[in-house]
Amino acid sequence: MPKTNNLLTSIDLGTHRCCCVIAEITGPESLEVIGIGSRRTDGIRKGVIVNLEALVASIRGAIDQAESEASATVSSVIASVPAAQAKSFTSRGGVTVASRDRVVTRKDLAKVDEMVRAVQIPPGQSILHVVPQEFTLDGQEGIQDPVGMTGSRLEGSFHVVTVPQQTAQHVVTALNAAHIDHVESIVYPLLASSEAVLTREERDNGVFLIDCGAGTTDLALFERGALWFTGSYPVAGDLITNDISIGLRTPVPEAEMLKRTQARAVAGVDDDLVLEVATVGGGAPRLVACSLLTQVVSPRVMEIFELSRQIMDRFKLHHRARAGAVLVGGTANLDGIVEVAEEVLGMPVRVGVPSAVVSRAGEIDAPSFAGPVGLLEWEMRVGRRQRAAETVGRNPFHRIRESVGRASQWFGQMF
Ligand SMILES: Nc1ncnc2c1ncn2[C@@H]1O[C@H](COP(=O)(O)OP(=O)(O)OP(=O)(O)O)[C@@H](O)[C@H]1O
Ligand SMILES: [Mg+2]
Repeated sequence: MPKTNNLLTSIDLGTHRCCCVIAEITGPESLEVIGIGSRRTDGIRKGVIVNLEALVASIRGAIDQAESEASATVSSVIASVPAAQAKSFTSRGGVTVASRDRVVTRKDLAKVDEMVRAVQIPPGQSILHVVPQEFTLDGQEGIQDPVGMTGSRLEGSFHVVTVPQQTAQHVVTALNAAHIDHVESIVYPLLASSEAVLTREERDNGVFLIDCGAGTTDLALFERGALWFTGSYPVAGDLITNDISIGLRTPVPEAEMLKRTQARAVAGVDDDLVLEVATVGGGAPRLVACSLLTQVVSPRVMEIFELSRQIMDRFKLHHRARAGAVLVGGTANLDGIVEVAEEVLGMPVRVGVPSAVVSRAGEIDAPSFAGPVGLLEWEMRVGRRQRAAETVGRNPFHRIRESVGRASQWFGQMF
């Protein structure tokens, strides 16, 4: 049985699915998945927690399954909050370099970070991450790490991600009620997914990460290695299923099955095929051409990316994604979705699957595993480093990296 202190466990809380992944730490930068559990999520609607008791049962079900596969017991997790609940903005801070010789130190960075954290955020919100973007030293822009450089005025821009205090509180309460004593980190899901699916070149050159799930489509812009924008809208896979159910007059479970097994977002070679489709009310099945299914699905898929495109246009982001867009989330499995996305967004698009983590449990090379596997990778590369810095005395560096408190810190800030 693996030693539990050598394990990391993630819980990705989606509208549709609650997924738990347990991995063994096999090296300083390597993980091996040893248990996967997933349950339909009850209690979250369009990214909002609406029934805590139902959510607890889903979480516990997913953990039980993963624990039994991994032959391990989980007591601490890295969790996501529904992305739709997050808001973000860029904030700047500036200080006079403190040392006599005007060499920038980590203390100067920590002071800029502190200024950014002191920024007024809307009432009821809590800061989840403060992600450094770039620094300016005596007017010289675009510096990624100014430590060791000489100058007198240091300014920095940071992307601040906030969530409603109540949302984070509900996530922790639900996990505690599911017998998870310790929530190591709470992470914005697209920061997590970015760790699992984006290449360094994409992050540097500029890329949109688009998570098309069940209830919401969430997007984030990464550029020059940092996070610059987040957005979300409630149009995603559930609506495709609904459209099939209404358009083909078939019950929702049948529509969901048809979507997963037969649907295409664009016309294909097998459009002439005829499908036998169950009817609402249990009457005799009807025969439906595949082309009709495509006609029902395609407009909604186009709408999903048109809404992304509108956001990109409204915030003048389109030209910044020189590496195009990467799709994750369950809806990214839909046949033909990449073609539609490329046409509507006018940029190269690929589907992102976790690639650096191996699994000796089930398959994880699917776009819906970007979230749960990304949470583990985020913890390895960011969360643990922050905590290591915290324990080695008052090293201010941790505050400059993307910062998220452990659950205890969360509660400290909130109540
Ligand atoms: N093969 C497939 N083809 C089309 N759609 C699929 C396929 N597999 C899963 N989906 C859809 O993906 C969606 C679930 O995706 P995911 O697990 O990323 O959602 P979630 O994270 O629970 O939801 P959200 O991110 O909206 O909170 C569902 O709408 C499901 O029908
Ligand atoms: Mg999701």
